[in-house]
Amino acid sequence: MAATGVEPALPNQQPAAATILIVDDEDTTRNLCRDVVADAGLRTRTASTTEQALEILDQSPIDLVITDLRVPQIGGFELLKRVRESYPQTAVMVLTQYGTIESAVDAIRRGAADYITKPFHVPELRNKIDRVIRSIEIDQENRVLREQLNSRPGFGGLLGVSHKMVRVYRLIEKVSQHHYPVLILGESGTGKELVARSIHFSGLRKNRPFVPVDCSALVPTLIESELFGYVKGAFTGAMHSKPGLMEAAGNGTLFLDEIGDLPVDLQAKLLRALQEREIKPVGSTERVPIAARVIAATNRDLEAAVRQGQFRQDLFFRLNVVQIKMPPLRERKTDIPLLVNAFLEKFSEPNGRIRTISEDAMARLIAYDWPGNVRELENAIERAVALGSGPILHVGDLPSNLHYGGHDRLPQSDELLPLEELERRAILRALRESSGDKLAAARLLGIGKTTLYRKLKQYDSESRSN
Ligand SMILES: Nc1ncnc2c1ncn2[C@@H]1O[C@H](COP(=O)(O)OP(=O)(O)OP(=O)(O)O)[C@@H](O)[C@H]1O
Ligand SMILES: [Mg+2]
Repeated sequence: MAATGVEPALPNQQPAAATILIVDDEDTTRNLCRDVVADAGLRTRTASTTEQALEILDQSPIDLVITDLRVPQIGGFELLKRVRESYPQTAVMVLTQYGTIESAVDAIRRGAADYITKPFHVPELRNKIDRVIRSIEIDQENRVLREQLNSRPGFGGLLGVSHKMVRVYRLIEKVSQHHYPVLILGESGTGKELVARSIHFSGLRKNRPFVPVDCSALVPTLIESELFGYVKGAFTGAMHSKPGLMEAAGNGTLFLDEIGDLPVDLQAKLLRALQEREIKPVGSTERVPIAARVIAATNRDLEAAVRQGQFRQDLFFRLNVVQIKMPPLRERKTDIPLLVNAFLEKFSEPNGRIRTISEDAMARLIAYDWPGNVRELENAIERAVALGSGPILHVGDLPSNLHYGGHDRLPQSDELLPLEELERRAILRALRESSGDKLAAARLLGIGKTTLYRKLKQYDSESRSN
């Protein structure tokens, strides 16, 4: 793609099957693991000693090592250490004996992705493998995309590296190489127009016109003549013929913004134009062919509008060939620091005063819900930079609705997961971040040390009775 040069893997390209190395000196466990992995369509390698395992790692790329902790010669811990050092892209899952939760915790602390307690059941092992492989895939995809994105100002002006934005970039990338209609949905200020521009300017039509039409701003009586054009004498004051916006877009892109606000009678006319790829300028008997690609956007719930009879279902179907849903900013809070810094940069330049932001102020910006999304954040930073007095932006420089509260709100998770799973992940992460120090981990989690112990024991016995 010429405009941005970003070439992410498209979702329909199947990645090669992952390769899993199973290391255990017990034949039964090794064979069971091998069968489970093979059944899941993944490639397997097996080793009964760490020496064999290291040889295999040396020879071929391995995505995941599943190792028993008590494997000869150097043992699972040392193997884990060497893999972390020499093959940082390879994940490790350890097999621990029942009743040795301490060693599982220790393995997590040393960088294992997960652990499973022996004896285990096949579905449990399969789930864990699936989970680890999926997170390896996501990590790899995101790393590639991040590297590409970080080396550029952004994707067509869009900033953000959260996985929700990465998904948007992929879709943009894909649709920009085609001509079919795109419908962009999302709350106000989430970047719908930027996406429309990005599709146009990174695609096949980038050297053709991009014509935005704000359907909510057009005077209802003039929409038809604006869109379709008119001929001389079509109505009082029509001194000359004038091509409409659909015609003006030529082979380029017609961006129908706020399509949800298009009056019902115009919806029928637009539908006909899109179906027949022809229009009839007001007052004309001649039909004019149209070739523009159509991208539509709205912050309204268009499907609800269809149900309520406010928006024609047939037009909805015609526009909704590909749908891009823009995530609200509160669902991609990890992008806030990046956006804040970009906006600081953008607005600081003219007067050169404020360039950085205090930790407290950043925390407020992250905690806030941003109903007006990126636009609201951009405005807040612009205002703060203009009104701020020192070289560092403080909480007091932010809009007053950000001065209080917000802190008690938990950042929303990107993914909806069962509570138990969220808890398990939080515990594993806290242990990793606190280098296995359970007291510190418990503090991070805001629970007592005994509760943490109880939960770890519970996982241990659950995995046994599963
Ligand atoms: N991901 C992003 N990265 C950088 N800037 C963004 C991003 N998303 C939005 N913006 C900025 O936020 C502002 C609003 O974006 P845009 O006009 O595209 O939103 P919109 O979804 O069309 O909003 P509305 O529904 O109100 O028309 C613009 O100034 C745009 O540059
Ligand atoms: Mg808009």
